[in-house]
Amino acid sequence: MQSDALPVLLTRQSVGARHLVEPGPDDAALRLMCEAALRAPDHGALVPFRFAVVRGAARAQLAALFEQAARDAGKGDADARIDAERAQRAPLTLAVLARIDLGHTLVPAHEQWACVGGALTNLLNAAHALGFGGKMLSGAKVRSPVLQRAFCEAGETLVGWVALGTPAASPARQPRKLAADAVLREWSGPRTP
Ligand SMILES: Cc1cc2nc3c(=O)[nH]c(=O)nc-3n(C[C@H](O)[C@H](O)[C@H](O)COP(=O)(O)O)c2cc1C
Repeated sequence: MQSDALPVLLTRQSVGARHLVEPGPDDAALRLMCEAALRAPDHGALVPFRFAVVRGAARAQLAALFEQAARDAGKGDADARIDAERAQRAPLTLAVLARIDLGHTLVPAHEQWACVGGALTNLLNAAHALGFGGKMLSGAKVRSPVLQRAFCEAGETLVGWVALGTPAASPARQPRKLAADAVLREWSGPRTP
């Protein structure tokens, strides 16, 4: 377990849509990625997330909606077309939808969001383990009424989109953000004032 999983976890990094080529993950790969997502810690087993697959002909529909959202946000023709083109760069896109129950008596919202983050991370790690690359993107578009209507069911929040595909080349290894010691501190009792 350790020898298989750790190199994957220690080497995942985001791969932007412009560096992704066909093939994207097929149904079997998507199912494995979702099984990994469903292994995220989930207080109350609420499963406060789901993923909507955008591929094939649906990519053009996503592009049209990105373009519309850009125009609604006051962007001009050229910028709106760039947004539309971005929607179709990746072979496959997953919309990430969260369903946070703000009135839950046992599980507060922050714990449900922690589960969504864990699910997303597990999904990206599984994609990496399967040889795919991906990147989570949001932007102001997630607040676009036209996109929210297109993706969200009642009570859902549009978190953003994961672009997925095969990395065109081995991406240059990004340096670690921080040394592990920066986030690992000994606790030896309450601080004295
Ligand atoms: C929910 C969420 C939304 C994000 N939205 C954006 C975004 O809109 N634009 C962007 O450049 N990065 C965004 N990121 C960050 C990238 O997905 C990525 O994590 C970041 O570029 C760091 O790269 P790394 O994953 O290789 O560490 C988002 C991350 C998360 C978790």
